[in-house]
Formats: sequence, structure tokens, C-alpha cells
Amino acid sequence: MKYFITLAIIVSITLSAISQNPDIDQKVDSVLNLMTLDEKIGQMAQAEKGALENIYDISYYSLGSLLSGGGSSPASNTLQGWINMYDNYQSIALESRLGIPLIYGIDAVHGHNNVYGAVIFPHNIGIGCTWNPELVKTANQIVAKEVAATGIDWTFSPCITVPQNERWGRTYEGFGETSEIQKIMSGASIDGLQGSDLSNPETILACAKHFVGDGGTINGIDQGNTIVTEQILRELHMAGYIDAINLEVGSIMASYNSWNGVKLHGHDYLLTDVLKNELGFNGFIVSDWKGVDQVNEDYRDAVKRSINAGIDMVMVPDRYIYFISILKSLVQDNEVSIERIDDAVKRILKQKFLLNLFDEPFTNNSLASSFGSVAHRNIAKQTVRESMVLLNAKNDVLPLQKNNKKILVAGKLASDLGAQCGGWTISWQGSNGNITEGTNILTGIQNLAESSEVIYSENGNYNNPVDVAVVVIGENPYAEGAGDRVSLNIDMGDINLIKNIKEKGIPVVAVLISGRPMIISEIMPYTDAFIAAWLPG
Ligand code: BGC
Ligand code: BGC
Repeated sequence: MKYFITLAIIVSITLSAISQNPDIDQKVDSVLNLMTLDEKIGQMAQAEKGALENIYDISYYSLGSLLSGGGSSPASNTLQGWINMYDNYQSIALESRLGIPLIYGIDAVHGHNNVYGAVIFPHNIGIGCTWNPELVKTANQIVAKEVAATGIDWTFSPCITVPQNERWGRTYEGFGETSEIQKIMSGASIDGLQGSDLSNPETILACAKHFVGDGGTINGIDQGNTIVTEQILRELHMAGYIDAINLEVGSIMASYNSWNGVKLHGHDYLLTDVLKNELGFNGFIVSDWKGVDQVNEDYRDAVKRSINAGIDMVMVPDRYIYFISILKSLVQDNEVSIERIDDAVKRILKQKFLLNLFDEPFTNNSLASSFGSVAHRNIAKQTVRESMVLLNAKNDVLPLQKNNKKILVAGKLASDLGAQCGGWTISWQGSNGNITEGTNILTGIQNLAESSEVIYSENGNYNNPVDVAVVVIGENPYAEGAGDRVSLNIDMGDINLIKNIKEKGIPVVAVLISGRPMIISEIMPYTDAFIAAWLPG
């Protein structure tokens, strides 16, 4: 007992002395020199917080990271609930022998979207349509502040995929279908999230994902196979990563997809030769959720290939104890070198030092007051305005008149906050209805109307004369593979709704809520104005 107390004191003196050292690489080396093999492997493991078998496993295995997957909230999904959760996990991490702080990650992909009351920004497909990198940077500064307000250090964002097939369920996570827009917007996002100094309490670590070729799979099948030449892989799918690396993005996530039949998670040429050596990425590579498991049915071989290919941290996320024992045996059997382990751990520790987690591991309470604030919502509103795409505007139907008119609002998505937020909102898949605080389209119109009368009829069956109809149509929420579609046609019910209203002689303003471009040729002639609103939040 006495021995451990003495050791703990020596270690804590050592660590605080190290933290004063201006040279981060030296600090990293000093910590690495104190670490046992078990502690090193623990740093490389990321567990889902809900998968912890025992909360003290955090310190017992000296886990490097925890994550909240989509919808993995504390029992009380409030700002304070998240702060308490984060600080509690962190305090347990600090009880480990070396007291290395956790880095906690989450998918804050359009605002701090798991947290009730956080500002929900448009999904990236809408962000791309703003063509306004300054605004996108500001929006991401707000996302960083709201994430940091809950203590969390790291977002799995931005997704810099370049979707080539709109049937893919993740189309909305990308900024657009060209490398040009990917480059502009990934840079602006990372700049906003990380700022120029990660130790600033208002900034968080970003993660460019999913490296590489996720948007190029055959038939747009999620986690599928991208069959392209190396030139196309580099010019189309990899271009944004070069900007991300120039901005010193701290982490990059490997992709589930394969390139010409080989899974990215086990791809040593792309992860190590290209990403780390050629492009000079010196942050850490995190696996995707159970992505390592897909490299081979034999888990031991899958772990071996992935770590040797260059994965530094494994989003296990459930069987972390098993993962740790497998990786340890691979090192003992010389199938994974200690040099590879040291390289991975150094990359992870470096980001922890840059984030100043050793000196300030807990939530900075000064950020709480701006969480979900009007000032933050105003930036989101501006982002929504600039993300809208007007595809058709005839007969002066727009702008809507605030006074002396009768406005019919139709379509079930007109009063559906969850639908306009899409997937990755409060839950992983998202859901319809009043899932968080916000204003749906109907309420928005009602709020702005002055003497104009707003009538809502979901099915458009309103037989008195009106001046104009706003008809909101589109998709219900989905995420990842659950959103893969064969057809891009608009739902028949929505087509008929628009036709029926137009056939009564009422001018129609159509608003399409969707996570992708859809086929609108059949309804376009029945509209006077048409707005692609994407997933505005
Ligand atoms: C997704 C990632 C995400 C991760 C953690 C995976 O299923 O592909 O984009 O960051 O889960 O939620
Ligand atoms: C989690 C997501 C994750 C997905 C992967 C879900 O259960 O909530 O975060 O991306 O699983 O399949």
C-alpha cells in the first residue's frame, strides 16, 4: 500500500512537472517512458460508455477514450446531466496509476445533436449549399462551444465524403458531390472546431471522416466497395484530406468501405504509406464502430492487420476487455511491434496534451450560459437561410406576404421538427415529432405572419379560397445504411398532394425536406416556387 502511495506521488509530481514543459513531444515521450504495455494498450482502446461492464474499468484498464454513440445520452439528457456524466468518467480516469485523462468523443455532426436543447444546424448537404466558408467556420465555432460546454473534447466531424450516388443513405453527411466543395467546407469546419489553439477551452478536436472513398461505393451501398483507379481515389475522394491535414486536424477516422475489394481498416498502403508518410498526417487514426471486426472473421487477425495497417485507436466499442487482451498477446507474440504501439500511443497522447487535458481535465463551466442561446440560434438561422436552394420562382409568389393574405400550409412534414432535423438528432436514426426544442416550418410561418391568416391542413383538404399554399414534402429521418434507397422518386402521396392543390387553381410553393437530391420532374410543373430545404435543423 505504502509503495503505491509513494509511486502515485512520484508519478503525479512527474506529470505536473511534465505539463509545464513547453515542448509537447518531450512531454509525450516522458509519459510514454512511464507506461507499461497494459497502459499503452489501454490508451488505444475506445469503449462506448454504455458498454462499460464496470465504471472502474476506465481506470483499471487505463482506457484512452470513451464515446457516446448516436443517442447514447446520460439518464438526464440536459446540459447538466452531460456535464456530470463527463466529469464523473474523467475523475475515474484520473484515478489510474498515471492519471492520464480520457478523451471523450461524440458525433456532433450538425450541432451537439445528441443533447436536448442544443442548437441543431443544417446537415452538411445544406451547409455545402451556403457556399459561405466564413459562415461555416462561425457555425462550427458554435458547435465546438456547445460540445465543450458539456465537457466533451472531440467530435467525429466533419464528414468530408464526396457522395457519387444519391441512393446512399449518408449522402446528406457530405457537403456535395465534388472535391472542390469538400475542400472548401472541410477546411472551414476544421478551422471552426479546432481554432488555432486546441488548448483554448472553446475549441475541440475534429475528426475528418471516413478515410477514404466512402462516397464512391458501387450503387451507393453503405459500407460497400469503391472500385476506382488510384488517380480517381486521390483526386476525387482524398482531396479534402490534404486541406484537413494542412489545418492540423487531430484525428482521422478510417472508413468501413473497401477500395477495390480491400477493407480500408486493414489497408496499410492507404493508412500508413499514403496518409501518414506521404501526406504527413501526424494526428491519430481512429477506427470506425466495429470497423476492425470487418477486416477478418478471425478477430485476432483483424486486430493484427488493422493495427499494423496504421489504426491508432480502436472504437471497439463493446468488448474492450477482449480487445485489450488480444492486442497484448499480439505484442507478446511479436505479431505487432512495440514500435507500432509506441507510435500509436504517442499520437494519442500528443492530442491530449494539445487539448490541455492534463492540466484541465474537467468541464469548463464558463461555457454553460451560451449553450443553446439566442445568439447561437441566430447563427444557425443565418446558415439555414443561406442553405436553401430556390429551384423555381414564378408569378411573384415569393416572398410570402405577411399581411392581408390567406396562406394554406399543407403536408405532414410542415409541423414535424424531427423530420426537418433528419438522422443523428437526439437518436442515431433521428425520429419524427417534437424531439427537441425548435421551430417547425408551420410555426415559423405563423410566427412571421402579421395580418395574414395561416391555415394548416395536413392533407390539403381546405375548400375556402386561399391566396397561396406552402406544401412541405419529403423524407422521414434515417441514418447510415438504413437510408440506402433504390428509388429517388418523391412519395406518391406527396405528388398527389401538390397536384390536387394546384388543380384547385392555388399557387403552390413546394418545400422539399430531404437528405439528398430527388427526382422532382413530375411535380415541378405543378409548382410556382420550389425550395430544396435539405435537412435544416
Ligand atoms: C459511423 C461513424 C460514427 C460512429 C460513432 C459509425 O457507425 O459510421 O460515422 O462516427 O459510428 O457513432
Ligand atoms: C450507434 C451509432 C453507431 C451505430 C453503428 C448505433 O447503435 O448508436 O453511434 O454509429 O450503432 O452501427
